[in-house]
Amino acid sequence: MKIVTLLGGSVLLAISFGSLAATDKALVPAQDALNILQPGEVSFKRDVQPILIDYCVSCHHPSPSSKGYAKSGLDLTSYESLMKGTKFGKVVIPGDSEASTFTKLLTGTNRGLKMPMGLNAGGTLDRQYILTLRKWVKQGAKNN
Ligand code: HEC
Repeated sequence: MKIVTLLGGSVLLAISFGSLAATDKALVPAQDALNILQPGEVSFKRDVQPILIDYCVSCHHPSPSSKGYAKSGLDLTSYESLMKGTKFGKVVIPGDSEASTFTKLLTGTNRGLKMPMGLNAGGTLDRQYILTLRKWVKQGAKNN
């Protein structure tokens, strides 16, 4: 009986993994992602900055060899530099994650751009991280 349940579970798991790989579900967050995301306020230092360090800073730190920084002027190494934006303007509009380029480029493309750059067309940042960044912007993009 136990073995049957176990087998059933792994078949279900395989099916859900299969469908995840087939389509890009990042625009419609799965329920599990919403549940795992901690309730309450997102913290820049605790939640947002580690994501930027892991996935963005390699190309967005102030150095001419840093591709994203060299091209756009966007430095993602601190709260202040993120809020300053690119040489063309701001990428975070506090309270509006739909209008903020910072979060828009994670799920959709703008002039063919998608971040982090280098992921293939179907790839995106982990949904948990996307939700965390969006929630932080929605909550006012505070230096908390
Ligand atoms: C592999 C390098 C690379 C990584 C990693 C990367 N970027 Fe970029 N990013 C770029 C480049 C190059 C540009 C300039 C693109 C252009 O203007 O043509 C850019 C530009 C941007 C812009 C400005 C777009 C605009 O409209 O001008 C934003 C916002 C951005 N990146 C956010 C991020 C975020 C957030 C992450 C991490 C989740 C990230 N990037 C990771 C290379 C990268």
